Amino acid sequence: MKPFNIAIDGPAGAGKSTVARRVAEALGFVYVDTGAMYRAVTWNCLERGCDPDEDENVAKLARQCDIRLRPGENGQEVWVNGRNVTEEIRSAEVTSNVSRIAQNREVRELLADMQRRMAAEGGVVMDGRDIGTTVLPDAPVKVFLTASPRARAERRFLELKDKRPSLTVEELEKEIAERDRMDSEREVSPLVQAPDAVRIDSTNLKLEEVIGKILELCRTKV
Ligand code: C5P
Repeated sequence: MKPFNIAIDGPAGAGKSTVARRVAEALGFVYVDTGAMYRAVTWNCLERGCDPDEDENVAKLARQCDIRLRPGENGQEVWVNGRNVTEEIRSAEVTSNVSRIAQNREVRELLADMQRRMAAEGGVVMDGRDIGTTVLPDAPVKVFLTASPRARAERRFLELKDKRPSLTVEELEKEIAERDRMDSEREVSPLVQAPDAVRIDSTNLKLEEVIGKILELCRTKV
């Protein structure tokens, strides 16, 4: 199959990263987790004691940030300025600040440029919030992956319950809803379904069924 790009967008907890990784494996493509890049910028900003509301300082720090996504033994690793921060970027603190940082226009332009360079040769499965609308508007395959808020919270709960034992599904549902609200209402490239994206609601679908639907789309569209 000739390399082409696949854009997978959707709200938090819809299963985008698992699905995108598996689709990439099936096609021999490279998986790019753009959420990890926003998390990396957020981690760096907090680590340096920078207030996420200070847009200019946040942008300045982001420009100095060398972000690398590398294949590791347990999946994709994220490195910032030579330090492996794969675990750190999933912390509750980063999660509660990332949507604020993602509103920063300069940060978005910087990361979108990097993402376009990563996809320049084709053969990339990229997941995020604005891939089909802004980063790769010409991607031949675009998916908007969603699920009911409750189903998304329950899935995230299973992923996080060991790391954050005091967390409840209800709290997580609120946390996810707030992140979705900020991501959907921001001025710069908000979370919306691209007009030409295929919407897949995974509430009642098994992982394999979602992957099968996307691989089928790849066969018919390319
Ligand atoms: O995908 P993940 O949940 O790790 O993304 C973390 C946050 O990064 C999102 O809630 C959103 O604020 C931001 N993001 C974004 N655009 C992307 C990917 C992620 O604004 N393409």
